[in-house]
Amino acid sequence: MSLLEVAGLNTFYGDSHILFDVSMHVERNEVVALLGRNGAGKSTTLKSLMGVVTPRSGSVKFDGTEIAGKKSHAIALAGMQLVHEDRRIFGSLNVEENLVLASLSASEKWPLERIYDTFPRLKERRTSRGTDLSGGEQQMLAIARALIRSPKLILLDEPFEGLAPIIVRDLLAVCKKLAADGQTIVIVEQNIAAALSIANRTYILNNGHVVFDGTPQDLKAKPEILHRYLGV
Ligand SMILES: Nc1ncnc2c1ncn2[C@@H]1O[C@H](COP(=O)(O)OP(=O)(O)OP(=O)(O)O)[C@@H](O)[C@H]1O
Ligand SMILES: [Mg+2]
Repeated sequence: MSLLEVAGLNTFYGDSHILFDVSMHVERNEVVALLGRNGAGKSTTLKSLMGVVTPRSGSVKFDGTEIAGKKSHAIALAGMQLVHEDRRIFGSLNVEENLVLASLSASEKWPLERIYDTFPRLKERRTSRGTDLSGGEQQMLAIARALIRSPKLILLDEPFEGLAPIIVRDLLAVCKKLAADGQTIVIVEQNIAAALSIANRTYILNNGHVVFDGTPQDLKAKPEILHRYLGV
């Protein structure tokens, strides 16, 4: 049984039909990249999985349980975490307070030391307020806030957006280490090279439809798909 099995997902904002019969699966310990142009529906897919928006129809089975229609806090308790594009850390709290707060309601949690081993920079910055962090540090904290809840599945929405190449390189290395340690990840990225370098499999969304499902090798062998749907 897959960790995540999505079938026939349809999501609307008001009258606007955004996702059309989206089906996908994610196996345990797999890294899946979800790619597509601006407005393709990538964030809406992650939000639909996490219960931030409620899909109108379709099935989302997570670790064997149907979660479509459930609230996001219930889905979080079931072991899914979404790291939003806008990071959503608490600026007035320091790094450690952000981490402890995130861990409070989790049934299983990582010890702080494991978080700090993963992100040594956050240990150095443990007493700094969220607002005083650099963009890269904020993204590390956003990911760390999800990890401290020991998620079965972590959804990353454009984690590298707006970050300097050297920071992207470091964060990508952390993501690869997490994956090597067995963390299941779905990553949405505009940085296609970075996403493909970590993914076991990839889906492409176009206007709310899944138009490609295959390995990064399959995708690289089809330049016309890369060009048509990703503009590269
Ligand atoms: N809250 C909302 N209300 C109405 N329409 C929305 C809302 N959020 C997104 N949309 C629309 O839904 C479509 C899909 O948006 P979504 O944010 O899922 O795309 P995306 O693939 O994540 O794009 P990007 O690469 O720009 O982040 C777009 O046409 C967008 O304008
Ligand atoms: Mg988006």
